[in-house]
Amino acid sequence: MKKTVKKAIIPAAGLGTRFLPATKAMPKEMLPIVDKPTIQYIVEEAVASGIEDIIIVTGKGKRAIEDHFDNAFELEQNLLKRGKLDLLEKVQFSSNIANIHYIRQKEPKGLGHAVWSARKFIEDEPFAVLLGDDIVQADTPCLRQLMNEHEKTQASIIGVQQVHEDETERYGIIDPITQNGRLYQVRNFVEKPESGTAPSRLAIMGRYILTPQIFMFLDEQQIGTGGEIQLTDAIQKLNEIQRVFAYDFDGKRYDVGDQLGFIQTTLEFALQDESLSSSLLAFMDRLIVNKRV
Ligand code: UTP
Repeated sequence: MKKTVKKAIIPAAGLGTRFLPATKAMPKEMLPIVDKPTIQYIVEEAVASGIEDIIIVTGKGKRAIEDHFDNAFELEQNLLKRGKLDLLEKVQFSSNIANIHYIRQKEPKGLGHAVWSARKFIEDEPFAVLLGDDIVQADTPCLRQLMNEHEKTQASIIGVQQVHEDETERYGIIDPITQNGRLYQVRNFVEKPESGTAPSRLAIMGRYILTPQIFMFLDEQQIGTGGEIQLTDAIQKLNEIQRVFAYDFDGKRYDVGDQLGFIQTTLEFALQDESLSSSLLAFMDRLIVNKRV
């Protein structure tokens, strides 16, 4: 019987060291791109793709994420009294957006461990994983594209995109065997290959559809690159017992996991906002002219 993907895991228990000290007391997933926390973009993509239940893996100091997706009674009453109905709508939207559940990863032992922590919620079904480090703008939501491929193949589908040669060491990289349009059969999945050794420039981009057999390998809790339990290592083992495909998804991907990417994304999203774009462009023009003088 065909099983469709209804559940998604969003791991959000990392330490966010690249944004310290901002992330000392605040989850990096709550850093806003213009007026929305990054994690809300991810939840919206999951919902737009047809996901019904989301489990967010949280950790120490991550309460703000739960508060963000909860009702805010006093704030809502205050906005109502002051007639700020557009803001009220935005505030209420984030608490009604989806069925969101939470589980805590007791220690940040790596992405593979974070996904493993949510295994009881998944049971025996294929499921999605979305990482908050990548925001994707696409006509068909990125996750939906992977779900479409899963519906055809019933296999695990890993979202990838091309990166520059000198960036491959920052990503999980695939070693493709055959290509059929955007879909690749994969020989190996390699986590953060050393510079100059990457088998391709196709990098894993934080969107996955996985079959539940992945938990057989996550159960092993094998320590990988960086001393962490890596999801990529478990995917490689899964690929040895059943087909795992990579899908070069369509859409523009924004890397909000590091400082430069975060600033660039903020600028691009602000320029897409009619209420900000002309003033921001004028400001940037002045800034560039002053830099050149
Ligand atoms: P990252 O390595 O990008 O996130 O992990 P990080 O560890 O928070 O950030 P830096 O590198 O220290 O700046 C990718 C995703 O996996 C989650 C993170 O929250 C992020 O969404 N993650 C990572 C966990 O949930 N648990 C972990 O133990 C590690």
